[in-house]
Order: sequence, then C-alpha cells, then structure tokens
Amino acid sequence: MSNIRAAITAVAGYVPEDVLTNKDLEMLVDTNDEWIVSRTGIEQRHILKDPTKATSDMGVEAIKVLLEKRGIGPEEIDMIIVGTVTGDYVFPDTANLIAHKIGATNAFGFDINAACSGFLFSLTTASKFIETGTHQKVLVVGADKMSSIINYEDRTTCILFGDGAGVVLLEPDTTGGGLEDALLRGDGSGANYLYQKAGGSLNPPTAETVARNEHAVYQEGRVVFKAAIKGMSESIREILAKNNLKAADVDYLIAHQANKRIILGVADMLDFPKEKVLINIEKYGNTTAATIPLCLRDFESKFKKGDRILLTAFGGGFTWGSIILKWAY
Ligand code: UT7
Repeated sequence: MSNIRAAITAVAGYVPEDVLTNKDLEMLVDTNDEWIVSRTGIEQRHILKDPTKATSDMGVEAIKVLLEKRGIGPEEIDMIIVGTVTGDYVFPDTANLIAHKIGATNAFGFDINAACSGFLFSLTTASKFIETGTHQKVLVVGADKMSSIINYEDRTTCILFGDGAGVVLLEPDTTGGGLEDALLRGDGSGANYLYQKAGGSLNPPTAETVARNEHAVYQEGRVVFKAAIKGMSESIREILAKNNLKAADVDYLIAHQANKRIILGVADMLDFPKEKVLINIEKYGNTTAATIPLCLRDFESKFKKGDRILLTAFGGGFTWGSIILKWAY
C-alpha cells in the first residue's frame, strides 16, 4: 500500500432556484405538510424546471463554484466520475458531457449507477486512481434530476425527492488526511423494491410503459426503510470495528438524506449523539446521489483539519456502504 491517501480538498454544490414546498404538494396529491414533516423531515425540495437543462447542467454549476474556490482551471482536472441514475441520456455518459461543458480537455470519466449510494461508490472508485499515483485531480460528482423520473400523482414517492448536484475534488495527501477506509456492499435481490420499471433493455419505452407510468420511481417504502436502517448501521459497525474505532472517535456522521427517521434511527442504534449527526433533508428532500456532497457543502464551515467524518448510504440495487475519512483542510 502506498502512503498516498485521496483527500477531499474542495467541495461545492448546486440546487435549482425553483422550490416545491409541502404546501405545493398538497395541491397535487392527497397529502399534508404535517404528514410529510413528521414521517420524513422534508419541508421543501428544489426542482429543475427549465426543460432544456439536465443533470449535467447542475453538475457543471457545482463544478464552476468548486474550481473558483480551489483556484484551478478545468484543464488541470484529469478524471471525472459522476454518480447518477438520471444521466442526461441512457448513453453517452454524463461525465463526458460535463467534461466537455466545463472544458476539461485532459480528463476522461464515466458514470456510476448505484442510486442513493452513487456518491460513495464514485468516491471510493476515484480514490483508487489517486492512491496509485496515476491521477492528481479527480472530480467526484453526485447529481440527480429526480423530478425527471417522478410521477407527481404518486404521493408515496413525489413527496420524497428533489433535484441537485454536489461535487468534491480529490487530490493526493501524504500527511494523514483523506479516505481511511471504504466498505461497499450490494444485493440484487432487493432490485424490485426500489427501481424504474421501464426504459432499460428489459422493458424498452413503449406507449404502454409510458401510460403505466413505468418510467417513474417505484418504491416499496416500508421494505426499503427497514433495509436502509439495517444496511447502514451494519456497515458502520463493520467499518468501525475493522479500523479499531468507536463512535466516540468520529466527529461527524453524514448519512444519505432519504428520511430523517432513518438517519436518527441509525444514529440511535450506534449511540451517535445528535450533535454529531448532520442533517439538511428539510431543505432539499432526497436528491439521490447528491445528498452527501450537498451535506459536505452545507456543513463545510464546521469541519476542521483532522476531523474524522463517517459517510454512509443505502439505496436502490440494493446498494449500501460506509466511508471513513479525515478532513484535510
Ligand atoms: O433513498 C433511497 C432509499 N429510500 C428510502 O430510504 C425511503 C425509505 N422509506 C421511507 O422513507 C418511508 O417508508 C416513506 C416515507 C416512503 C413512507 O413512510 P412510512 O412511515 O413507511 O409510511 P407507510 O408507507 O407505512 O404508510 C403509512 C400510511 C399509509 O396509509 P394506511 O395504509 O396506513 O392507511 C399510506 O397510504 O401513510 C399513507 N401515506 C401517506 N399519507 C399522506 C403514504 N404516503 C403518504 C403521503 N401523505 N404522502
């Protein structure tokens, strides 16, 4: 093992201007603000309304902020990985489109489809290119235009999701900062509890699939709820034990923002005090691959060099996992 670690050296995010509140949703489906807040913690979500804009455009906006903050140009980027389930097209990949739009002419990239675990899967993959010394500046984006795959007549899903993008820059660190460990898991037996039924090679788009709303998110909420708590808490236990760490050694816990009750349930099971648990779901809802980098962005000012941050996620696939890292700036 080399002594190079992949450290996050900058973070940024973007959410579209338009806001969809719980009150707005009351006009669309049979729901109410009290139910949504008490069952999920969500108060509003941001929606990309411009029909000419897509996931890549949100990624680009986030990256522009990041490059400005870090004081580097797009030609210095040598790789871009995008976690997303709502790429602009089925193909080509969104990473390639983003590279072109920002002028990252020396970069190659690809998308990773791991739903709500997409950012963790992308961050882990990217870290290997840094640790081996082959790549110096890698952008890891989590971005989803969930509104493009939501049925706004289905009250069980439309209240949950929002649009957004987050990005981190990974660079080599030899002073102890960066990713310490990652533990990722998958179980395809959970595929049909949270998925988009049509649009892929099994059920290509037809007038019937559109009429049956099979291009929208389908979820069996209760099953996913239980599996999410189990998956995230088990992976946290495992990664902490593997690294001889306890909850007390962790400064902040950032869990994928799908439901406030899930996040607090996981924290409770593992004895994480509430002040260590970072939550911003009330503002954005579930932005799928974007929730974790948006949390890093929103809470960046809290972090000090050397803080240990635990990231955890669970999502469609099923996919899940945890990462521990030392904040590097
Ligand atoms: O990001 C990927 C991972 N995804 C998740 O982690 C999501 C996991 N699941 C959840 O967060 C929760 O299961 C939901 C928020 C989706 C649902 O909450 P729940 O507490 O599990 O509710 P439920 O599905 O058990 O439904 C309870 C009741 C039902 O009525 P009955 O059958 O008791 O009469 C639902 O029909 O609430 C009803 N309901 C609603 N009521 C008002 C479902 N959706 C709504 C709604 N407004 N939007």
